[in-house]
Formats: sequence, structure tokens, C-alpha cells
Amino acid sequence: SVKQSPAGKQRTATYESAFLRACRREPVPHTPVWFMRQAGRSLPEYRKVREGIPMLESCMRPELVSEITLQPVRRHGVDAAIYFSDIVVPLKAIGVDLDIKPGVGPVVERPIRSRADLAQLRDLTPDDVPYVTEAIGLLTAELGATPLIGFAGAPFTLASYLVEGGPSRNHEHTKALMYSDPELWADLLDRLADITAAFLKVQIEAGASAVQLFDSWVGALTPADYRRSVLPASAKVFRAVEDYGVPRIHFGVGTGELLGLMGEAGADVVGVDWRVPLDEAARRVGPGKALQGNLDPAVLFASTEAVEAKAREVLDAAAGLEGHVFNLGHGVLPTTDPDALTRLVEYVHTHTAR
Ligand code: CP3
Repeated sequence: SVKQSPAGKQRTATYESAFLRACRREPVPHTPVWFMRQAGRSLPEYRKVREGIPMLESCMRPELVSEITLQPVRRHGVDAAIYFSDIVVPLKAIGVDLDIKPGVGPVVERPIRSRADLAQLRDLTPDDVPYVTEAIGLLTAELGATPLIGFAGAPFTLASYLVEGGPSRNHEHTKALMYSDPELWADLLDRLADITAAFLKVQIEAGASAVQLFDSWVGALTPADYRRSVLPASAKVFRAVEDYGVPRIHFGVGTGELLGLMGEAGADVVGVDWRVPLDEAARRVGPGKALQGNLDPAVLFASTEAVEAKAREVLDAAAGLEGHVFNLGHGVLPTTDPDALTRLVEYVHTHTAR
């Protein structure tokens, strides 16, 4: 028999965790739970360690990243950790002049609107993000069998910040570029796909056990636009990390009409917001993929009984699925009571124990 090193044993325990098993559509001891935006925001211990440190700077300090990533695992007993960072970190790392303004979001100094502006985007190498490799090394040592999810922004959502210059309700500059100059648009998304793929590879090689591609704002598009102008770039990202064999999760908001195409782009797990029940989402996505979701994050402001009734609805809709990862339909809202999240994890675990 083959002798297993402690590191090998630990990898096996992680591999067999409920979260990774659900992603692979294998039987699970209980439905695994984690929350988008679980690190930061609602936690007092997060606000304490972040005091006086700007968001982007905090993403570049490995010990701080490790501590913030671990906080929700300790407090809530979630089944996976998500790496503490932001979708604009790889862009900052290659020299794009941007900042994250508190209460606003990412703001870009010189928006990308012409071919000449593309010069702001060069390829990303592991040397651009040494703090990511270091932080993930610290984390995998601390996490034991709990898997770490790496993530990146998808090409469309990154392009939206770069073209608009900041957060946008209507994405008008982004759509104007996409419709007026399809060639420049395709080149922009292709370049972002390479940067995103390189950033995900750094995280996987450092020890991330799964990755999530956040295409948060792509629900603004029609299916035809998605297929023509976005899917090729997102598919390139998924293909680039396919050989690692780690589950690839694909998530966006308001993507009810895009779920099938988002699966087609190459995901193993499709994230669903709260607008489409999971049984209907499964019909739209088709066989061979797990689903993640989808409790409305605003529900957490209701009474415990109401939260549990709504969580029950999610679990009932997911009952026929091959693989289900319980999550919110979007990120934890900043003023959420952390105890409501802890109770929800407990509820899902006890009511799905097999
Ligand atoms: O999920 C996690 O717990 C890990 C951390 C994480 C952050 N951003 C930390 C953060 C993740 C996964 C993200 C992803 C992200 N960032 C997305 C995709 C997810 C989604 O919500 O759809 C998007 C669109 C962004 C861009 C962005 N960055 C926004 C919209 C904001 C919020 C602005 C605000 O202050 O309300 C940020 C800033 C940000 N990213 C904060 C955190 C903890 C707040 C900054 C602070 O605390 O000073």
C-alpha cells in the first residue's frame, strides 16, 4: 500500500468534503453551505482588523487576508472559505489606475473606450501577485479539510467597470462599445479572459480547491448578446483551468434567461440568484451540472421562523438535484445580523443530514 504523507491525507479529507462532493454531484452527508461575500462586510471582527487600512491595501497583506478569510469559517461553520480579495485586484496588480471607494465600489481613473486605451491591460504573471500565493499558503495550512474557493471577475463584469469607469446601473458605455465596435469589444474581453485565467491559475496552484467566476452584471444582456459577445471570453477562462480538475462555479445576478448559456460556457456548477427556483433552474441548465443558491439575501432580515421557512423552500426545490451547494442568491448585505447567518448554516446542516 502507498504511504500517505500528512499533506496527502489532508488533501484527501478536503477532496472528500461535502462542498467538493456536491460540486462533483456525488452523495453528501449534508448539503454544504457557504455565502457569497461571507468574508468582511457584516462581521464586527472584520471591521476591527480592517480599521484604517484601505480595501485594496488589505488585499495585499497575506496575514490579514488569511485572518479575514478564516473569520466566517470560525464563526458560522460554513463548508467552504472564499479567498478575501476583490474582482479588481488583478487589474490593480498589472498597473491599471483604480481604487475601491468605500460605499461606492471600484473606480477607474482612465476608462477604456478606445483601442489606444487597451494598452492599459498587459498580461498578468504570478510575480504580479506574490501576496496571493503567500496568503493561500497560510490559509491551506489553517483550513484543514475545509476547501478554499478562489475567484475572479468574469470578462464582462470587469469590462463594465473598466469602460464605465465605476459602478453603473445601465452599463450604457459598455453596451455602446459592444454594439458600435464589436472588434475592439472582442479584443478587450479576450485580453481580460487571459488576465482572469492567469489569476485563477495562481490561486489553484497555490492551493485553492475550487474557483468561482463572478459575472455579477451580465444579467443586463439578452441571450443573443451573451452568446455572441460574452460567452467566447468566459469559455476561454473555463477552458484555461479545466485540466486542474477543480470545480468551476459560474455566477451572475438576474441571469434567469442566461442560465443555460452560462452552463455551456464551461462551468461545473451554475450559481442561481433568488428569482428562479432551483428546480426550474435545473431544467434551464440541463443535466451534468450542480447548482448553487439561492436564498434572497434580504430574507435574512426577517424573523428566524420566516428565514427557516424560506430556506426550506430552497431545499425543497433542490430536492431532485444531483448536486446542490446552498448559498444566497447574491452577496451577504452589509447590515445583516451575523447570528442570522450562523443559524441558517445550522438549519441547513440539521435539516439535510443523511
Ligand atoms: O465573498 C467574499 O466574502 C470575499 C470577498 C469579496 C469582496 N469582493 C470583498 C469586498 C468578493 C468575492 C468580492 C467580489 C466582487 N467585488 C464582486 C462580485 C460579487 C458580487 O457582489 O456580485 C463585485 C461586483 C465587486 C466589486 C465591488 N467591490 C463592489 C460592488 C464593492 C462594494 C462597494 C461598497 O463598499 O459597498 C466592492 C468593495 C468590496 N469588496 C468590499 C469588500 C469587503 C467593501 C470594501 C470595504 O470594506 O471597504
